[in-house]
Amino acid sequence: MLGPVILAASRSDRMRRLISAAPGTRQVVDRFIPGETVDEVLPIIQELTDRGLELTMDVVGEDITTPEQAVAARDAYLELIDRLKPLDLGTRAEMSVKLSMFGQALPGGHELALANVRPVVEAAAEIGTTVTLDAEDHTTLDSMFAIHEDLREEFPQTGCVIQAYLFRTEADARRLAANGSRVRLVKGAYKEPASVAHQDKHETDRAYVRVLRTLMQGEGYPMIGSHDPRLISIAQELAHRAGRKPDEYEFQMLYGIRTDEQLRLAAEGHRVRVYTAYGTDWYGYFMRRLAEKPANLRFFARSIVTK
Ligand code: FDA
Repeated sequence: MLGPVILAASRSDRMRRLISAAPGTRQVVDRFIPGETVDEVLPIIQELTDRGLELTMDVVGEDITTPEQAVAARDAYLELIDRLKPLDLGTRAEMSVKLSMFGQALPGGHELALANVRPVVEAAAEIGTTVTLDAEDHTTLDSMFAIHEDLREEFPQTGCVIQAYLFRTEADARRLAANGSRVRLVKGAYKEPASVAHQDKHETDRAYVRVLRTLMQGEGYPMIGSHDPRLISIAQELAHRAGRKPDEYEFQMLYGIRTDEQLRLAAEGHRVRVYTAYGTDWYGYFMRRLAEKPANLRFFARSIVTK
């Protein structure tokens, strides 16, 4: 019940100000977002890769309001890519981007987001890595998929995300599996109406398995974005049945969540990529993490009260 309330709060400016200023917030935020600057996050990248994990980097931010902010977002990714270059990690460190941060919701937003994201994809390719387009709320997805298709003409490794809770996703998965795309499958983290999305967790889980089957049997590269132990073992079984080798799919989890499981899967020989977010505009990302698990909220509330 709490999840939808927290997700509604994630769009409220008043709550943003209250929560950002509360003493004790920072300590909880740090669990999910290990830094605000590239300098703070580079040692984390090194540490995770040394431990056999791969990364997808997210400079946090979304729902910007001016074209200048979109350009600043582009530049933040370009700076990150520039700083990654000497580490020579190739695809072990890729980027995840939210098109809303690149201007997608502004007037002329589709073209603006494409113009801002393209240099990031080009720069990533120059250091031997790639970019995945995150999935945001359902109203943004037609534009995201069109940008994905456009970028793939020149950069076929560009990935995208699909969300199991949306009714449209089974059809999207069939299309993406047939055209050989890299696709991250997640359950979905936004507050969506019953007209477009499953509201029941079990329905979402069942849809996740159906979509995963399509991806595993297809021509693309499935990226299993989940911490759910049941779905992780189903994914292993489906990969085996589809005759996929360990380098023909990968697991992805968020920084700070089920780290032992990330290391266990990597030690078993699986590719495991950790979605690592950093930056100053962490509010939306942080609130979605609270909404996913009520225990996080209790921990958060305690840390504020005891400060
Ligand atoms: P579920 O929520 O059922 O959790 C399973 C178990 O994992 C829990 O019991 C708990 O142990 C642990 N867990 C999960 N979330 C936790 C949390 N916040 N704190 C502590 N423990 C937690 N969504 C989206 O809409 N668009 C996107 O682009 C992405 N991108 C993305 C990338 C990657 C790599 C991941 C892993 C996830 C996303 N998501 C996302 C988020 C996704 O939609 C979903 O909200 C979360 O992954 C939680 O769902 P699970 O599949 O982990 O299952």
